[in-house]
Amino acid sequence: MTKTLDRVVGIMERAHGRDISVYDEVFLQKTLEKRLVATGIGNPSAYGEYLLVNGSEAEALSCSLSISYSEFFRNQLTCALLEQLILPGILATKEKKGRGEIRVWSAGCASGQEAYSVAILLDELVADRGKHAVTFRIFATDRSEHELESARQGVYDFAAVRNVRHKHLQKYFTARGDAFQVVDRLKKQVDFSVHDMLDERLSCPSESIYGDFDLVFCGNLLFYYRPEVRHFILNKICHCLTPGGYLVTGEAEKEIVTRHECFRGIVPPSAIFQKNVPRGTT
Ligand SMILES: C[S@@+](CC[C@H](N)C(=O)[O-])C[C@H]1O[C@@H](n2cnc3c(N)ncnc32)[C@H](O)[C@@H]1O
Repeated sequence: MTKTLDRVVGIMERAHGRDISVYDEVFLQKTLEKRLVATGIGNPSAYGEYLLVNGSEAEALSCSLSISYSEFFRNQLTCALLEQLILPGILATKEKKGRGEIRVWSAGCASGQEAYSVAILLDELVADRGKHAVTFRIFATDRSEHELESARQGVYDFAAVRNVRHKHLQKYFTARGDAFQVVDRLKKQVDFSVHDMLDERLSCPSESIYGDFDLVFCGNLLFYYRPEVRHFILNKICHCLTPGGYLVTGEAEKEIVTRHECFRGIVPPSAIFQKNVPRGTT
């Protein structure tokens, strides 16, 4: 870590009680450069002095480190594979076992687009089979209460729903002026709650009680963190997944997951991975 970065991390910890050492070094450096421009200070050493005595700058730096951009049906290949292969496969396994529940976790769900996207796919799938023996439940978590509140509202502007198929827009959204609101029936399938992926005390979101997820989404979150923190998050997900369960990440995070011993790629080059099944249990 450069001297300047080291100093900023130290000031954030000691003067403002915020641990930003968990973030990836390149990401931290770029964010710091943006703050130097935004504050007009330019000089890293003067920025350190400013940050030391300025709580609002500490807040602004923390906010710049929290990226919350999301999209409905964000990646075409991932969504096609989920719709045609992964979700029907999970459903078939549950049906074989008799009555059951498909359990999904959207970790770092931001304002809910990912959770509602998979809710739409699952709702269509379950209805298509004409059977309601198998139900589904989606636990969607984020560390930001602000993002979760917006997810619970489920109101999106026209640009945000551009990837949603017309028939899904008609079926799962209600037009509200210039905006679209997710219908209550779909909202009821998604349980939004706070969970910090770095929390060492909780291995799964408390609302889910025991985890045992068939599918976990953790997209566009891992790459903001340092390698050891990414490893910790992947261990947590591995612990919460049922053997043979699936993990979906962002496109830029495929390499990170490939290096983790718990997962294997299933349809390269997609960002969908499967939890390894212990030998002798297949
Ligand atoms: C860039 S958004 C990604 C949203 C969605 N997963 C997607 O791929 O479109 C990252 C989200 O992860 C959340 N996040 C970042 N670090 C987190 C952590 N340690 N625990 C829980 N949520 C976290 C942020 O608040 C933000 O809402």
